[in-house]
Amino acid sequence: MDFSLDNQSPDKVSVDCVIVGVFENNELSPSASALDKISQGFITNLVKQGDIEGKSGQTLLLHQLSEVVAKRVLLVGCGKKDKLTASQFRKICNTSLKFVNSSASQSVFICLTELEVPGMGTHRKIRQVVESAHYTDYRFEETKSEKTPVKHPLETVFISADTESVSNREAIKEANAIGLGVNLARELGNLPGNICTPTYLAKQAVQIADDYKNIKATILEQTELEKLGMGSFLSVAKGSREAPKLIILEYSGADKNNKPHVLVGKGITFDSGGISLKPGQAMDEMKFDMCGAASVIGTMKTIAELQPDLNVVAIVPSCENLPDGLANKPGDVVTSMSGQTIEVLNTDAEGRLILCDALTYSEKYEPASVIDVATLTGACVIALGKHPAGLLSNSDELVEDIKAAASTSQDRVWQLPLWEEYDEQLKSNFADMANIGGRDAGTITAACFLARFTKKLKWAHLDIAGVAWESGATKGATGRPVPLLSQYLLDRCNKG
Ligand code: BES
Ligand code: MN
Ligand code: ZN
Repeated sequence: MDFSLDNQSPDKVSVDCVIVGVFENNELSPSASALDKISQGFITNLVKQGDIEGKSGQTLLLHQLSEVVAKRVLLVGCGKKDKLTASQFRKICNTSLKFVNSSASQSVFICLTELEVPGMGTHRKIRQVVESAHYTDYRFEETKSEKTPVKHPLETVFISADTESVSNREAIKEANAIGLGVNLARELGNLPGNICTPTYLAKQAVQIADDYKNIKATILEQTELEKLGMGSFLSVAKGSREAPKLIILEYSGADKNNKPHVLVGKGITFDSGGISLKPGQAMDEMKFDMCGAASVIGTMKTIAELQPDLNVVAIVPSCENLPDGLANKPGDVVTSMSGQTIEVLNTDAEGRLILCDALTYSEKYEPASVIDVATLTGACVIALGKHPAGLLSNSDELVEDIKAAASTSQDRVWQLPLWEEYDEQLKSNFADMANIGGRDAGTITAACFLARFTKKLKWAHLDIAGVAWESGATKGATGRPVPLLSQYLLDRCNKG
């Protein structure tokens, strides 16, 4: 897909489809209004007749509007004019681009950047349009026997905006890179557990290192992990016949003295629960338990594309969690790389067992910040639903930086408290800590567990259990939080 800026009048552009906004209460966007005038009030009439009310997400496709060069005009409802928010704007972009994808239009002129959205400048609106185009373009076909060819794939997207602005052009570049990262994360997430194994993830990381400059991949195998003393990670891995991998991607875009930002992603390629077996219902969705890993790898692709002036390290502990004769049993005590011992009271709380060793490993980089990303707790979906990721951290400054990036990228987070009172729930009679903290505040006690391994780090934890994938008819990985992580990193290099 090719994106460019264009500041022509919407009636003059020779494309398959022009996209313009229509508000509730008979209000037209400037471009809709321009098209209305040139077509002698055609759009106003449609609105009066009730063909389109302007409700958010409504669409109406017009053909050969008189005096308009484009073959089609797509009217898209934008809701009430003074109620437009950034998340509404995203929905409008997604709806219209999805519509275009299923229509016969291969070239479009999008006039949505003119809409006034509080807190959103032109740069951010352009980014949203381009990210939406990539998002709606993605289809999962890898494991379908027949690839259904798209008859009229969208090829050229003109965005109505100032063509001279450097910031506008940067927006397209950033969004192209983020779109690539998001769709890579989705593809990895959607692939089934029998294909997307730890070995497969490692290969993907090596591929990125081969494809881009300044990126190095290192894969640590079982024996090396044993030498490092990663007894917690390995205790999960030993219930599976798939070889565990610790995948490391190092991006060097700045001087060596610049401390790197580290991203750690949970890479459980299938989570059956282990001996504490999960119920069967929707267990297939536990192939998505590597979405943290996928988002971290996807973000590295975005970073590799953009080549910003900073250093970034991605660390992905990856294995399966299965029941087996060698698997962890409830009551087993394992020793983590940090030396702390853990009583495994529930083998289904495996994410924290692999993350804790990866977090300890990250200390060797003396990082500027560490963010781990994990589909860690079902409790997070109960607490926050499917809109924000849970955010817990030992640094107020890092929380502010992540919240700022979340707001810019519209990839939302919500902070939960990491108070020491919760930590008491992890007490064990037989080890330094238990791996579960009882029914109360499951997302927080999981983070408290990780906090015991990040005392030396400026660290934040993102619980993406609710946001990493959609269930039901639209079942599939979302690629979140690649936009957030990418934004967080890009912000670091602007501020030094
Ligand atoms: N991968 C799951 C968390 C999960 C479950 C995410 C469902 C999304 C949907 C994680 O490994 C897990 O099983 N967590 C347990 C923790 C519990 C045993 C303390 C959970 O959430 O039930
Ligand atoms: Mn589990
Ligand atoms: Zn899990």
